Amino acid sequence: MSMLITNIGELMTQDAEATVLRDAALVLEGERVSWIGPAARAPAADEAYDAGGRAGLPGWVDSHTHLVFAGDRTAEFEARMAGESYAAGGIAVTVDATRAAGDYDLTRLLLARVAEAAAGGTTYLETKTGYGLDVAQEARSARIAAGVVDEVTFLGAHLVPAGRDADEYTELVCGPMLDAVLPYVRWADVFCEEGAFTAEQSRRVLAACAAAGLGLRVHGNQLGPGAGVALAAEFGAASVDHVNHLSDDDVDALAGTWSADGATPGTVATCLPACDLSTRQPFPPARLLLDEGVQLALASNCNPGTSYTTSMGFCVATAVLQMGLTIHEAVRAATYGGAVALRRHTGDDVEGRRAVGSLAVGHRADLQLLNAPSATHLAYRPGMPLVHAVWKAGNRVR
Ligand code: NIG
Repeated sequence: MSMLITNIGELMTQDAEATVLRDAALVLEGERVSWIGPAARAPAADEAYDAGGRAGLPGWVDSHTHLVFAGDRTAEFEARMAGESYAAGGIAVTVDATRAAGDYDLTRLLLARVAEAAAGGTTYLETKTGYGLDVAQEARSARIAAGVVDEVTFLGAHLVPAGRDADEYTELVCGPMLDAVLPYVRWADVFCEEGAFTAEQSRRVLAACAAAGLGLRVHGNQLGPGAGVALAAEFGAASVDHVNHLSDDDVDALAGTWSADGATPGTVATCLPACDLSTRQPFPPARLLLDEGVQLALASNCNPGTSYTTSMGFCVATAVLQMGLTIHEAVRAATYGGAVALRRHTGDDVEGRRAVGSLAVGHRADLQLLNAPSATHLAYRPGMPLVHAVWKAGNRVR
């Protein structure tokens, strides 16, 4: 079954050249894009959809979320707005609520968040464990997530549970906990930060998870300077996320992971602007990173502590309004950049998966249409519900 989507006023493809087409059309065939080009030259298809001059772009790739949780942290948020600073210790509140929830409720909550994200234009989603923090609970979170989202990350190293010795808990993460989650996860992450895991503990987690065959990501340099970025670069992590407090050496280390020809991707710097607003952290030096040749991603970081939103449109608007990115740079970071951070920007012959985060022939048919003539409206009209229609793998989901 093929579907021609025509009369697209502005189509941001986010292909290798980041081409922007005017008066464009594309054909979706099954789960893939089979044709893309000027509407005047579009081929016939089984069905046609008139986009009415609306802007089109790839669905968002949200490469950093923490969606497997129960409860919320409204009181902590209110205290923060009244002047308290964010501390990782709040994670323990969510751990208690999550452990107390049954599988049915936890799955229902996760599904509702994923549906909310899809309605906002997100078509590819990563989520993390990290609110279980014992072997059985982390395995449960990973299992539930694997049944719902596209990519699952093991974050047993999110916080040292109260009353536990940090080194002993790190050994648990690197041994029995890692073994228990392995069937469900593709990635591992560590919160390398004061109040969470030290550089040495983080190194042990990254080494053990890499040895088990997992791809690596790091929560780094969120609340202050630290070793997260350097470790991510050293271990060849696919991304380092937050990156609010960077030294010149950190920027050099990240830039050094990107080869001049760009053939092999380096460590993506994932910016989480909704979190930065909520925790009142300085925004990352996104312009400097881009100028140094570092690929950026933008992600929602949806979680109950620091960023309780799935809205990638809000993140794009904030990146433009507050971080100095152009709309093109911000949209690219929230689509192609997220895909690079998840190493899904190209097809995968081994697993037969299609590229996401960009629109080109053969790529997965993940498309959103905006109730606006151009993507600029995402920042020009911040907070407005601009998403008109969404296709995920060729299926209309909104
Ligand atoms: O990415 N930084 C660590 N993890 C989350 C916050 C988790 C929480 O506070 O519940 C984040 O901001």
